[in-house]
Amino acid sequence: MKKIIIAIDGPAGSGKTSTAKIVAERLGYIYIDTGAMYRAVTLAWLRTKQPLNNEVLTELLKNIKIELEASPKGQITKLNGNDVSDEIRSVEVNKYVSPISAVEIVRTAMVDLQRKLAINKGCVMDGRDIGTTVFPNAELKIYLTASIGARAKRRLNEYMEKGIKDLSFDEIATQILERDKFDSTREISPLTKAKDAIEIDTSDLTLESQAEMVEKLALKIINNIN
Ligand code: DC
Repeated sequence: MKKIIIAIDGPAGSGKTSTAKIVAERLGYIYIDTGAMYRAVTLAWLRTKQPLNNEVLTELLKNIKIELEASPKGQITKLNGNDVSDEIRSVEVNKYVSPISAVEIVRTAMVDLQRKLAINKGCVMDGRDIGTTVFPNAELKIYLTASIGARAKRRLNEYMEKGIKDLSFDEIATQILERDKFDSTREISPLTKAKDAIEIDTSDLTLESQAEMVEKLALKIINNIN
C-alpha cells in the first residue's frame, strides 16, 4: 500500500490535533502535532529568562533537542529528554508561542525537523503551514475552521480538565483572536488556506464525524494510487 501525507491546517481550537490523532490511528499512520514543537521552543526560551531576540534564540536552538514520541495517550513531546507534554499547554506558553513561532530561525529549524519526521510518508501532520510550506505536495490537504465561540469553548474545557480556572471564556476568546491575528499576519508562512485544501467547518460537528470525513477523503486518495 502506498502511503500519503495528510496536512491539516487551521486556527487554534479548530480541532486539528484531535482529528489528526484519530485519522492517523485508523490508517495506521504516525501523527505529528507541529504546534507542540513551537511550544517546546517557547518553553525552553521561558526557562532561560532571557530577552526575546535572535541571539538568544540562535543559542537556544543549538542547545535543545525536541523529540516527538507516540504513546497510547497520544503524542509525547520531549525537551532535552524530559516529557514536557503538559507544560507546553500552560497559559504562559500560550501567551508567547505566536511571537516565537514567527521568528525565521525558529521556523527553519522546525520545518527541517518536520520534513525529516515524515520522510517515510504515512503521516498526518497538523499545524498552520503544513499544506502551504512544509509539504506543498501533500496528497491530501485539509483546512479546519470553527466559530470563535466553538473554539473558545473547547479551550475552556481543556483548561478545566487540567484544573486551570483563572481564565474566563471572554479572556480565552480574546487570546485566541489575538493568536489568530498574529499567526495569519506574520511575514513568514502565515496561516492561510492552501489553494487546493478542502475546508471543513467543525463548529457544529462532533469529533467523530469530522475525523470520519477526513478518513474517507484519505481512503479515496489511497485507494486511487494503489
Ligand atoms: O496548534 P497550536 O495551538 O498548538 O500551535 C501553537 C502555535 O504555534 C500557534 O499559535 C502558531 C504556531 N504554529 C506555527 O506557527 N506553525 C505550525 N505549523 C504550528 C504551530
